[in-house]
Amino acid sequence: MVPQKPPTKRIAVIPGDGIGKEVIPPAVKAMQATGATVKLTEFDWGADRYLRDGTTVPTDGFAMLARDFDAILVGAFGDPRAKTNIHAKEILLGMRFKMDLYANVRPVRLLDAALCPLKGIEPRDVDFVVLRENTEGVYTDAGGVFKQGTPDEIATQEDINTRKGVERIIRYAFEYCRRHKKLDGSPRNKVLMCDKSNAMTHAGSLWQRTFKEVGGEYPEITAQHAYVDALCMQMVRDPRQFDVIVTNNMFGDILTDLAAALQGGLGMAASGNIHPGRTSMFEPVHGSAPPIAGKNLANPFGAILTAAMMLRHLEFATEADKIEAAVLEAVREKKTTPDIGGTLGTREAGEWVALLIQSQPSE
Ligand code: NAD
Ligand code: IPM
Ligand code: MN
Repeated sequence: MVPQKPPTKRIAVIPGDGIGKEVIPPAVKAMQATGATVKLTEFDWGADRYLRDGTTVPTDGFAMLARDFDAILVGAFGDPRAKTNIHAKEILLGMRFKMDLYANVRPVRLLDAALCPLKGIEPRDVDFVVLRENTEGVYTDAGGVFKQGTPDEIATQEDINTRKGVERIIRYAFEYCRRHKKLDGSPRNKVLMCDKSNAMTHAGSLWQRTFKEVGGEYPEITAQHAYVDALCMQMVRDPRQFDVIVTNNMFGDILTDLAAALQGGLGMAASGNIHPGRTSMFEPVHGSAPPIAGKNLANPFGAILTAAMMLRHLEFATEADKIEAAVLEAVREKKTTPDIGGTLGTREAGEWVALLIQSQPSE
């Protein structure tokens, strides 16, 4: 019997700024090479448009994305010419907040031992996920400035933690743990909640109590806790111990750049911004990397693996497997950009992956 392909999925593609514009074309190419039935529509949201006509998000832009698309593939935002980077904030954080994409899912996987800066670490030793709360924390812009520019200036930046927001990301973590096996096929069985409740006592107490309550509903899963400073140290000392990590918006941001280094650097890390059942957004963890932008130097694999993550989310599991296998092969053959030891440019590394996908036996 011929396996049924999912119906055509509509994907909005927003390359954005800097290396976003270079890594998204190879990600699109990889998707197309798998034969996934996707219809892509590109949008020019980003610094060029903002600098041209002042538009960050066009009128009703988020409603349009939610209505007309099944998923969104994003590159990166941030441009030295746009001094305040207001466009990046309005587009990227706008999508996360206004589309309520509350779970920022950042898998941490080492494809090849040669990519890890730690001694004696094998691919099977680095296979965890950071689930980052994505709609509140210190990112809400609550706070303000008083007496600006005077010696008495006061700036406040509030850390917003709601019971609903904390509970849903913690529940997402336990459900994720229950449903996602490790790459070697073994079950996941630990959720670690990371906070700074020894200093940030009010927010910490809410996270602690919620974690205890929700964790109680999952007796088969071991609930663990770490302070964020200690967790940074442990992540570098021994990444083998982690399975599922859940944390707030800012700690998740910081931990996932550190975790990217375990995988070979920012060029290798993928992510999804998810609200189950709604149009979700997928982007590499890295930013627009101005120093290397426009030089055909950026590693496209984080973006390509992000496309695989998006396809898996859209139920194109076979196609996602093909992309991941091709990236793995390219890494093993050192057909990569210089940041992970190869000599290829962004375009050439992307083309190599597309060729590897096409040369895989069809199912
Ligand atoms: P960055 O992730 O853009 O880059 C930091 C450094 O990491 C780069 O200079 C480069 O040396 C390396 N790097 C990153 N991605 C790489 C890749 N694919 N291949 C090879 N090397 C890579 O972080 P930054 O320099 O702190 O931020 C630059 C801009 O990007 C800022 O405006 C920032 O706000 C923005 N940013 C955007 C996003 C996003 O849109 N999701 C994420 C992070 C940063
Ligand atoms: C990320 C980025 C963003 C964040 C910035 C660009 C606002 O660093 O996606 O990790 O802090 O979330
Ligand atoms: Mn970040």
